[in-house]
Amino acid sequence: MKLHRCISLTLFCIFLTATAGEAARPGGNVAAEIRVDVDKPQHAIPPQLFGLMTEEINHSYDGGLYAELIQNRTFQDPSTRERRGGDRERNLPVHWFLLGAANARADDTDPVSPALPISLRLELSGNGEAGVANDGYWGIPVKPETVYTAMFYAKASDGFTGAATASIRTDEGDVSVAKVSTAPITGEWKKYTVTLKTAADAPTTARARFVLSAAGKGTLSFAYVSLFPPTYQNAPNGLRPDIMQLLAELKPKFIRLPGGNYVEGGRFAERFNWKQMIGPPDQRPGHMGCWGYRSSDGFGMPEYLLWCKQLGAEPVLAVFAGYVLNRDHFRAGTAEMALYTQEAVDEIEYVMGPADSEGGKRRAADGFPEPFPLRYVEIGNEDWFDNSGSYDGRFTLIATAIRARYPQLKLIATAPVRSLKPDLYDDHFYRSPRALREMFNLYDPPRDPSQTLHFAGGGWNGRFTNGIKTFVGEWAAQEARPLTNHNSALADAAFVMGMEKNSDAVEMQCYAPLFANVNPADSAKGYPRGWQWEYNLIGYDALSSFGSPSYYAQAMLSQNKGDVVLPVKLDVKQDAPASSQSAAALHGAIGLGSWHTQVEYADLSATAFDGRKLMAADAPNDIKRWDTTGGAWRVQDKAIRPADGNAETWTIIGDPKWSNYTIRLRARKLGGDEGFIVLFNALDGGNYQWWNVGGWGNSVARAEAAQDGHREPYGPSREFRVETGRWYDLRLEVNGPRVRGFIDDKLVTEAMYEPGAGGTGNVVFATATRVDSDGTVLVKVVNAGKEAADAKIDLQGVGRFQPTGTAIVLSGDPRAVNTLAEPRKVAPREEAISGLSASFRHTFPPYSFTILRINSARP
Ligand code: AHR
Repeated sequence: MKLHRCISLTLFCIFLTATAGEAARPGGNVAAEIRVDVDKPQHAIPPQLFGLMTEEINHSYDGGLYAELIQNRTFQDPSTRERRGGDRERNLPVHWFLLGAANARADDTDPVSPALPISLRLELSGNGEAGVANDGYWGIPVKPETVYTAMFYAKASDGFTGAATASIRTDEGDVSVAKVSTAPITGEWKKYTVTLKTAADAPTTARARFVLSAAGKGTLSFAYVSLFPPTYQNAPNGLRPDIMQLLAELKPKFIRLPGGNYVEGGRFAERFNWKQMIGPPDQRPGHMGCWGYRSSDGFGMPEYLLWCKQLGAEPVLAVFAGYVLNRDHFRAGTAEMALYTQEAVDEIEYVMGPADSEGGKRRAADGFPEPFPLRYVEIGNEDWFDNSGSYDGRFTLIATAIRARYPQLKLIATAPVRSLKPDLYDDHFYRSPRALREMFNLYDPPRDPSQTLHFAGGGWNGRFTNGIKTFVGEWAAQEARPLTNHNSALADAAFVMGMEKNSDAVEMQCYAPLFANVNPADSAKGYPRGWQWEYNLIGYDALSSFGSPSYYAQAMLSQNKGDVVLPVKLDVKQDAPASSQSAAALHGAIGLGSWHTQVEYADLSATAFDGRKLMAADAPNDIKRWDTTGGAWRVQDKAIRPADGNAETWTIIGDPKWSNYTIRLRARKLGGDEGFIVLFNALDGGNYQWWNVGGWGNSVARAEAAQDGHREPYGPSREFRVETGRWYDLRLEVNGPRVRGFIDDKLVTEAMYEPGAGGTGNVVFATATRVDSDGTVLVKVVNAGKEAADAKIDLQGVGRFQPTGTAIVLSGDPRAVNTLAEPRKVAPREEAISGLSASFRHTFPPYSFTILRINSARP
């Protein structure tokens, strides 16, 4: 150690530091030095760096942000085969049930309007009260002292006279918690609006239904049945307050909508046709979305604008560009492309045109006379999937038309284009946490300015130097579902920090997907689960909502963005993690796994390369000797199976000292999502390698290695699909770092394991920014390692400042997730820090993301 003296303009300070290359290490295993050049700001951070990406996926709007409580309110989704209701309910649309002595059926002979072609006929027998009930989006949420607004069309026929009654009733006990009757129903279609209020002693539950009922004889028909709880800022046809509150905390400056795949649609008939998503909600016909369910389109263009307005965010409008998900497309020059081009121009006018323009008049009629500040328009979505090469022409056509009318707009391309220069490219990166961390420096200025960029895996491999900017319009670290875990959050934080430090090149970014309705499948009713995409940011059921650890990491970053980027130099001295094995000396036991799949394995044996029998084929049957992670296993007919065929589970047997061996077994899939998993070099449930045959949705065979629970694929990925019901012979030769996997004696996978292969293996990341107005310095540090990082932080050129600050810390077990039951298991905490000087020490806990807010304003 040497004694150094530091002199700044106004401050004299003396501190200890280490000589170059010998970092100080007062206790932890990782020592770091972070030098921040406070007086040398690099570039401004664009105000619109943080935004939201959304589309109708995972019940984002219907059953999510859009506060409507009735599912299938226009009866367009018919009964499902799984329906358990029997004959009485055979003709009822899904989510609708019959109560009392009556018949009910969907009727397409008496439409209210072209947008409402189907009604529900309730044929009353005269034997007391009867009705139809809707079970909402996995339940109707009941809360005490809450006012609900019900709206529906009704019409009487076949001699019915009298009123209809709207009520909310609990499933258990059929208790009515709110009830109101309409005026007498007439013989013409008419809209009825009523309010229902729960009492102070009403329960809080989602196990409830909305019921429309009547007493008497004759027929009552209903159409477009809607029920709203209070909405955010009480806007009609509005948004869910708890979710809006979570979004407000993210301080988004833009919203990218409507997608994503959703803008494209599965087929042409299912594209996002904006002209059918304006006007009163009951005049919008709805359409089939691309994520497996119908969209009511009650959340349409006006609601998108409402959302932007309520959050103070600007729209980033994605326009349909003539390509749909089944790869159908039209080329520039066709009549269809001329139509879509005009639609895009009209859509822009709807958003930003003056109130007296055609589009502006429609927008004003929808409640927004003021034009919206549209600055960015995206043309299509992920058009790199279009391998016909038509995007260049489609982009050029649409962009030229938009630029002719709105030259001020910045146009975003979603795939490489040659004929016209876009203003921005939209890069998409869905990666493992480790891979995303490795992308911290992706957009750094190139060391070699002549380096050419290439597009692969959803995005470009760096920044443009020719004036084109980058919009990272979808990204996420993907581990744990349906909302990702803390390990993902740390990678996400590092990735955002990387984009922020390069925000002279990266103008905007948004995580995806934003929302997931986390309700599980309801097999009794035949309903699927609420989410389709596996890794998401904000979750909810009918009653409450929560953010993932990544949500909190992003809120921390957005709330502490700063105005300018400060240069940071980080030096880390780190021991190799204790659990990592050197590639040369790999060893470990063997095992079996299952990923949401019913599998059975038989005749598992292991033989060392020198011929020693490590395990005979009949030895593994004593399941008590196995070390299991994630769910029980059992033996049946001499085969080993996971007890729950929908679990993520693996089980290990043998000696961790084993090395260099051949594993043999037979395997059969009985049902489920994927295929077989064979473990090798396994030390425990968190440190192992496995051969995943039929992984990634039963599409490929690949090796993966897990360290402290973080699993990463390695080696080549080979297409392989496991057939159900068939026995396969599997053989795995494990020779140090080399693994060869054979299926039915055919070599399928050959891979070399190199710890940290393909990346830096860095786990500590640091950046800094400064707030112009008060000089606050924001030092942002991710420590994704399992040791605390003891850091010496040098604030070069800081001048005199108040020696206080705040540390905002997000830390926890990397595998921890937030849930409805534990919504803030991983959430930030704030700690005051004092005694700061231009050079101070701070310890960053293991698995943490920290923002130090240092009050550098002069005292
Ligand atoms: O965010 C989920 C999907 O991922 C988006 O719809 C699509 O653009 C991407 O493939």
